[in-house]
Amino acid sequence: MSQALRDARRYEEAMERAISPEDRPAFHLSARVSWLNDPNGFSFYGGRYHLFYQYNPYDSHWGPMHWGHAVSEDLLHWTYAPAALAPDMPYDRDGCYSGSAVTLPDGRHMLMYTGVQRVPSDNGQMRHLQTQNLAFGDGTDYQKYHKNPVIRGRDLPAGGSVYDFRDPRIIPAPHGGYWALIANDQSGEGGRILVYESSDAIHWKYGFVLAENKGRLGCMWECPDFFELDGRHVLLVSSQDMLPKGFEYHNGNGAFYLLGDFDAQARRFTEESDHTVDYGIDFYAPQTLLTSDGRRVMIGWMQNWDTCNLHTNSKPWFGQMSLPRELSVRDGVLYQRPVRELEALHSDEVIYERVELSDGAITLPGVSGRLLDLEVEVVPMGESYNRFAVRFAKNSEFYTSVSFRPHESVVKIDRKFSGSRRAIIHQRRALVEHEGGRIKLRLILDRYSAEVFVNDGRKVLSATLYTDPSADGIEFFADGAVKINVKKYRIDA
Ligand code: FRU
Repeated sequence: MSQALRDARRYEEAMERAISPEDRPAFHLSARVSWLNDPNGFSFYGGRYHLFYQYNPYDSHWGPMHWGHAVSEDLLHWTYAPAALAPDMPYDRDGCYSGSAVTLPDGRHMLMYTGVQRVPSDNGQMRHLQTQNLAFGDGTDYQKYHKNPVIRGRDLPAGGSVYDFRDPRIIPAPHGGYWALIANDQSGEGGRILVYESSDAIHWKYGFVLAENKGRLGCMWECPDFFELDGRHVLLVSSQDMLPKGFEYHNGNGAFYLLGDFDAQARRFTEESDHTVDYGIDFYAPQTLLTSDGRRVMIGWMQNWDTCNLHTNSKPWFGQMSLPRELSVRDGVLYQRPVRELEALHSDEVIYERVELSDGAITLPGVSGRLLDLEVEVVPMGESYNRFAVRFAKNSEFYTSVSFRPHESVVKIDRKFSGSRRAIIHQRRALVEHEGGRIKLRLILDRYSAEVFVNDGRKVLSATLYTDPSADGIEFFADGAVKINVKKYRIDA
């Protein structure tokens, strides 16, 4: 093991002791210490789920990338494992960037990641040279392959940039063997997703272009994933510098998906439509895995690049993952619902039916808390209503809200009054379907986040919030008259 990895492991173990479990999310994975971004190597190995992550153990801001590591049996309770990778080789000395994991036929767990090396480019400026590399392991310790890099600049098709060539995602190839999807910038044209092929996951050759941005959907594409679901194909991509389009793509760097059909014989992906993955403030770089019982589960980094480096002082931890979400495709869109394992953590059920609420706010006895699964069904009373809202993480000073305006068909999450002292992004909106103002909202609260699943997960809005967890009030508000059905569970994590 390199000195750099040994140092990181020693440091994280010592520093973690200073963080009380009550001061971090209860059932969302957060950085063991300091900084976390993208989920990496999301996989099932040795009887447990493994989730690695982009990790700077030494500072709560982005910096030299390591791979942090955690394991779980239910996707909700995570146990930290020692850091898996450190930037300690010439080809990755400036960072071990995002990648994925597979189990090899001989039983080893293999990671494929992007190595980054700062080098002078043609015009003398320093650039980040990016190559793809392997590490083999047993679920705890990983050895970098002595023949790294396994995919490099000379393996790029024409026009590909060696400086934007990253985030390999290994998937099973349709007719056996492996494919690695790799994001690449094509000079002047923007992002595209390349497919490399291998029969043993170790020797790779370039295959074909799966999709390209052709001047739309942002600039450089990152963190691809591709899978078949409910008879369709879904390409997940995270894109830099997106232009808003109607209610889509308001996040600058944002995750989108292309829904379409893939002809494996012709190697042609025919896309039908593009969509935002999560309409909230904080969601990027998602990865999926297929569980042994056949569920496609997605997890993302619950942050956004525009606000994540604004804290000036170091924090003991910064950065957390979203809830793992089960995906399905219905009516041409991707539905997301919290993994069903969450239901095993439910306690303290409180149910209200047909509570009448008009022109004002109410609280309901037994409905409060910051570790919560709350379902609210809103039904208009008589004529339609103007606005309905749930205000949560609330005390006399602060609250965050999710609101719905039926005349505009807009659900909004707003954390302006959550205690933030910065003029940063506080609101996001999603256009939703509804019948005359009937809507279902499911709100999952952990200590430092809120995830809103609208109409059984047809639209999702996620946001981090840093309101003191003692602010645990919940209030229901209506402008107009509604009836609400409420079901609340405490989450015992
Ligand atoms: C996406 C990303 C990846 C890269 C990693 C670096 O958030 O920019 O493309 O591998 O973060 O930390």
